[in-house]
Amino acid sequence: MNPASALAAALAARGGPLLPGVEWPVSIGSTSDRLKALARGGAPEWTVVLADVQTGGRGREGRTWVSPPGGLYLSVLLRPRLEKVGLLPLAAGVAVAEAAGELGVRTELKWPNDVLASGRKLAGILSEAASGPAGVEWVALGIGVNVSLDSAGLAPEMQAAVTSLSAEGAADVAVPAVAAAVLARLAVCYDALRSDPRAVVSAWRSRAVPWWGSQVEVRAGRTPLRGRLLEVDEEGALLLELTGGVRRRLLSGEVARVRQASGA
Ligand code: BTN
Repeated sequence: MNPASALAAALAARGGPLLPGVEWPVSIGSTSDRLKALARGGAPEWTVVLADVQTGGRGREGRTWVSPPGGLYLSVLLRPRLEKVGLLPLAAGVAVAEAAGELGVRTELKWPNDVLASGRKLAGILSEAASGPAGVEWVALGIGVNVSLDSAGLAPEMQAAVTSLSAEGAADVAVPAVAAAVLARLAVCYDALRSDPRAVVSAWRSRAVPWWGSQVEVRAGRTPLRGRLLEVDEEGALLLELTGGVRRRLLSGEVARVRQASGA
């Protein structure tokens, strides 16, 4: 069975979601670039693009997403009519964490939606939206999961920073099965955004790395901000207390914990 048929069969067995269009080439530049082209052409919600390998995989904050064989590279199109559309990236993080949990892998979420296992990056999500006069028209959610990475092929600094489902002892490491778990959980979280957005925020908070009150550095654009991590609010924004007690509310960025010098 080819991977697209295996995905369709796994989703049918789980009761959905129904995918109106699936593209799954062996290799692509970026699944998100292809999906965005489909979105601009009017493709329906839940159209998905996957690939075995990406040659130009993109991460958040302009980073590259190294995409060798053995990973899940999935982009899914949503056309949300939601009051709290800003929560969608967090909901996607919860969905991926739940899918990993289904496979027996315990994860934590680092704002906005890095999925960590054993303190290392297991999955990342790139959320790209297009808006019109009526608000957000579509969102391309690009999801990358390290399923069975051959870490020997990675640069040494990456080897220390990443993990994979197989390294964490997942019950199933077939990419179509992982994709089905992610999409099925995403469908549930997406519905919850409409019916009970607060539940999505609490699900996110309950899985968050426990860094509350710690000093962190947030890189958003060129100037990193340092401060005390306060909370993630009901809109999904990160609240930071800078030196002098000034509060900043951030909508995007990359959070890293600041190790305090000891004995000072
Ligand atoms: C991150 O920086 O953590 C986000 C990584 C997102 C990677 C995925 S892989 C599928 C989709 N296509 C891309 O080019 N990027 C996303």
